[in-house]
Amino acid sequence: MSHGDIALCLMDELVEGQALGFDPLQEGKDSVFVLRHGGEVRVYRNSCPHLDVRLEYRKDRFLSADGSHIVCYAHGAQFLPESGLCVYGPCLGEHLSALRWHLDDGWLMLEAGQLVLCAG
Ligand code: FES
Repeated sequence: MSHGDIALCLMDELVEGQALGFDPLQEGKDSVFVLRHGGEVRVYRNSCPHLDVRLEYRKDRFLSADGSHIVCYAHGAQFLPESGLCVYGPCLGEHLSALRWHLDDGWLMLEAGQLVLCAG
């Protein structure tokens, strides 16, 4: 673990087919989300490649009703959970930004230096 890594949650808190948003920079908005899909955990920046807005329509609602896709509620773009590839919508073929993380004593640690505080 390097200086500046940020603990997001315990791995045990991540339920298959669900996503959780986090605000690691304490900006008052969730800039990152984590999901477990097919047993695999992924961390993405909470920013749509279409217009750089947050994806969820309310806290922790990042996924389609059946949990099969990540959805941007602004214009309905759909992304594959395993790769972040947009498979439907205005940013077709673009990707969500995957973030590096590692496991440390049961904690999901976001690796340092991947997030920048927004000025605005
Ligand atoms: S901002 Fe996400 S689909 Fe338009």
